[in-house]
Amino acid sequence: MDPLSPLDGGTDPMREPMTVAAQLPPPVRRIVVETPPTAVSPPPPGSNGHSPHAMVAPSLRRMPRAQTTPIERMRTEALSIAYGEKLAVNQVSLSIRQGEVLALIGPSGCGKTTLLRSLNRLVDLTPGAIRGGRILLDGEDVDSFDVTLLRRRVGMLFQQPNPFPMSIFDNVAYGLRERGSKKPSRRQLETPVIEALHRAGLFEEVKDNLDHPALALSGGQQQRLCIARSLAIQPEVLLLDEPCSALDPISTQVIEETIVSLRTEIAIVIVTHNLQQAQRVADHVAFMYLGDLIEYGEAERVFGSPVAERTREYVSGGFG
Ligand SMILES: Nc1ncnc2c1ncn2[C@@H]1O[C@H](COP(=O)(O)OP(=O)(O)OP(=O)(O)O)[C@@H](O)[C@H]1O
Ligand SMILES: [Mg+2]
Repeated sequence: MDPLSPLDGGTDPMREPMTVAAQLPPPVRRIVVETPPTAVSPPPPGSNGHSPHAMVAPSLRRMPRAQTTPIERMRTEALSIAYGEKLAVNQVSLSIRQGEVLALIGPSGCGKTTLLRSLNRLVDLTPGAIRGGRILLDGEDVDSFDVTLLRRRVGMLFQQPNPFPMSIFDNVAYGLRERGSKKPSRRQLETPVIEALHRAGLFEEVKDNLDHPALALSGGQQQRLCIARSLAIQPEVLLLDEPCSALDPISTQVIEETIVSLRTEIAIVIVTHNLQQAQRVADHVAFMYLGDLIEYGEAERVFGSPVAERTREYVSGGFG
C-alpha cells in the first residue's frame, strides 16, 4: 500500500459529510453493445500501430509495465477544492511519479478534471474556486512557483485538440519562441521541433508539410501535434484530460503508445472514461467518486481485485 494513500482499498467513514447535492448518485449511463467486440492480436513488435490489425478498436492488450523505479515528482496532500459551496475534490492525497502512468478514473462529475487542473494551478483561474491542502512539485509547494514556470514544467492536454491557427512547425516552436528574451532563428528551432514531432509519433506523417496549416490535420494528428507542442518545452509532468475521447481507434492507439513511451522521462497523469484504455496504459489507477479518492493502487490490482464496493461496481460497468 502506498504510504501516501490511506484510502488505498477503501473509503474513510470518518470524513466530513459532503453537501446534499454531492451525495446524489450520478446519472446511470448504460451503453448497449449490439455486436460483441472482436479481440485482435497486437501489432507485430516494432510496428507503430498502423498495421491492418489497428483498423479495429485496440484490444485489451496491456502495454508492458514500466521497468524503471518510479520517482515521485508531484504529490497532493489532503487536497480539497470547492466551487463556492460545492465540494468537487475532498481531501485527496496522491503521488504522481515519473516512470509510470497514473490513470484517474470515475464517473462524470466526480472531480477528475478539477483535480488535474489544480496540479498546474489552472483551477485558480476559475472564479469562486477555493483550494485547501497542499500540492507539491519536487517537494516545493506549487504556490511558491512563478505560475508560468509551473505550467511549463507541468503541461496539460485537453479533450479537444487545440492547435493554434498557424503552421505545424510554428505550433511546435511556439513555446520555444516565447521562452527567453532573444528569439531563436528558424534554423535553431528545427532540431527541437523535429525531435518533439518524433517523440509525439507524428514526424513521419508531416515531415514534408511542416509549413502547412495545423488546422488541416486530422483530429488524431492535431492531438499528437498538441503533444509535440507540449513536449517541445520539456515538461516534467504531463496532464492529459481524456486526450483520446474525440479520436478514432487508430489515432487512439498511436497516442497510447506515445504516452507509454514517454513515461520514463515524464510523469504522466491521464483522465479517462475508457476503462480499457486505463488498463492498457496505466501502471497505477486512482478511482474517484463524488470528490473522494475511493481506491488507489496498481492497475492490475484495482481492475482485477478492487477492494471497495464502489470501485468493484464501477470497473465492472455497473454505473458511470
Ligand atoms: N467552473 C465550475 N464552476 C462550478 N462548478 C464546477 C465547475 N467545474 C466543475 N464544477 C463541478 O465540480 C464537480 C466536478 O467536476 P469535474 O469537471 O472536475 O468532474 P469530472 O470528473 O472531470 O467529470 P467528467 O467526467 O464529466 O469530465 C462537478 O459537480 C461539476 O459540476
Ligand atoms: Mg472532466
